[in-house]
Amino acid sequence: MNQELEKIKQNVIKCTKCDLCKTRTNAVPGKGNFQSDVIFVGEAPGKNEDEHGEPFIGVAGKKLSIALDAAGITRDQVYITNIVKCRPPNNRVPKISEKDTCQEYLEQEISIIKPKIICILGNTVFNSILGGSEIIKFRGKVARKDSQLYFLTIHPAATIYNQKLIDVLKSDIVKLFKLITELKNKKEVMVDIEYSS
Ligand code: URA
Ligand code: SF4
Repeated sequence: MNQELEKIKQNVIKCTKCDLCKTRTNAVPGKGNFQSDVIFVGEAPGKNEDEHGEPFIGVAGKKLSIALDAAGITRDQVYITNIVKCRPPNNRVPKISEKDTCQEYLEQEISIIKPKIICILGNTVFNSILGGSEIIKFRGKVARKDSQLYFLTIHPAATIYNQKLIDVLKSDIVKLFKLITELKNKKEVMVDIEYSS
């Protein structure tokens, strides 16, 4: 692992900057390939993640793996993280104050990995990072803010009770990796939504 990322990981593991540290079992640092072209960003760890200290290893994680597989990609090729690194009690949505406090870790992960594109998983993340809502209307689209590209898709957990959505997630992830190939070939990709800070 990259040394700077390892340092962030260690800081996350011992972090006590917000109250979520009081109820967590384990903090859940980001995980994966530091040379990845894409960072997947989820909302917050769930029960399994909290127990094991790894992101997206529960049922939602399985759905993410299935979608990656559809694009011929394995988990170890990409980097996966969350907006907040500790599980909120009973999986409630993270508070604004918790997201704000935890934000520096995500910013550090992004500045080290320098992904070509950041994949936003679901509405909470869409709202936190881009101020958006109704991801279902915007999924499959490319956004840009401050010269960083984002790809918008649904949260893998949304596919658990809605079988139709797994095909949506799969086709979005296939599209994402096509875009990444274009970006690697130095081609411009079409940006659907521009945000400014
Ligand atoms: N859901 C998330 O948003 N993140 C995880 O790590 C697991 C489930
Ligand atoms: Fe620290 Fe983030 Fe965990 Fe809060 S959620 S304790 S800021 S790592």
